[in-house]
Amino acid sequence: MKCVWWALIAAVVLCMPGVPGLNNGLALTPPMGWLHWERFMCETDCVKDPTNCISEQLFMQMADVMVSNGWLKAGYKYLCIDDCWLATHRDANNRLQADPTRFPGGIKKLADYVHAHGLLLGIYQDVGKQTCAGYPGSQGFYELDAQTFADWGVDLLKFDGCYYGTLEQLEDGYRHMSIALNRTGRHIVYSCEWPFYSRRLSKVNYTEVAEYCNSWRNFDDIQDSWTSLKTMIDFTAALQDQLVPAAGPGAWNDPDMLVIGNFGLSWDQEVTQMALWSIMAAPLLMSNDLRDISPRSKALLQNQEVIAINQDSLGAQGYRVLKVDSFELWEKPLAGGSLAVSVTNRKEIGGARCFILSGSMLGKGLACKKCYLTQLLPTRYEYGSYNATFVLQLSVNPSGTVLLKVESDIIIK
Ligand code: GLA
Repeated sequence: MKCVWWALIAAVVLCMPGVPGLNNGLALTPPMGWLHWERFMCETDCVKDPTNCISEQLFMQMADVMVSNGWLKAGYKYLCIDDCWLATHRDANNRLQADPTRFPGGIKKLADYVHAHGLLLGIYQDVGKQTCAGYPGSQGFYELDAQTFADWGVDLLKFDGCYYGTLEQLEDGYRHMSIALNRTGRHIVYSCEWPFYSRRLSKVNYTEVAEYCNSWRNFDDIQDSWTSLKTMIDFTAALQDQLVPAAGPGAWNDPDMLVIGNFGLSWDQEVTQMALWSIMAAPLLMSNDLRDISPRSKALLQNQEVIAINQDSLGAQGYRVLKVDSFELWEKPLAGGSLAVSVTNRKEIGGARCFILSGSMLGKGLACKKCYLTQLLPTRYEYGSYNATFVLQLSVNPSGTVLLKVESDIIIK
């Protein structure tokens, strides 16, 4: 009888209206963690580069640092392996196996290590015949691979789309793996690259993608440069009418990894990535070397008020409101009628420029009679209480961003 009641309660919860996204109860806020690809790529020669090669040692060291240096406490809990972890062949029973030299303990042992640290483990596979780096892909083995990941204790799967065959095989493969993961009964976040591959061939049905995936990549791989970052931001803004409605608890557009703390971005550009990834409700998956990162980049990545904007329980993706005089104004509705607002200076010449921000420029979400204004980035500053038609003069550095929180009096105590 008890079971019948639980089944009824579960049915009511699962059928609640207004909960978009894959109904596995996971990623109700954008996933946060670390993913090896952009920084460590596919270095498999551990003799030549023992410190940076893709090996269990790298992930164990990263797990240690994630706990000891405050990353887990700040919310970054998924430690994710990308491509190049696999052996070149499946085993005699067709099961996937990790490269035996670089992962001598196997993935199960690594997952145990990661879990013992309070973290969760992510892994990478591909919907096609091979991964993008040429290791065995999952095509033809979706059930077996999903079960293998569940047996190992994997908590997130990044599912790439190289060597997929036809569009039909690509789409069926993504659906198939989603169902196979759910059938294992283990809670595994499903991170897809479905639209990135399918949009070259047909119009993306984002409602469907969101029904099968917890997050999805739409665009090219991020690189460690301002040029790459700008392309990502521009692409997202250009497609926002399609992307924004698809996002919500359990379903996130993924503009790819945070590259803060590497080599290619200036301080202002790092601020821009952190501010806009928060506004865009993007998964916050860092790809950097946490063993060696500057205190300034670390503080930016661990800024709790900025993370709170990304992780806001409403789960709304922000959007560009205005593009004028090489400034961009973005906003993200937050729970309780508050708003996050960002202003980016897209001019790449000269010094800081002044942007006059007035409350009347803001779009949908501003519901306060008294608004409490706080600048969060690049530095924190409390402006105090204003009415909804406030006017502020903001000084914004070239390629930099000012991020503000506009709290509605509905929630101010
Ligand atoms: C593709 C993906 C990247 C990364 C590589 C690995 O390019 O988009 O994020 O996973 O494959 O080979």
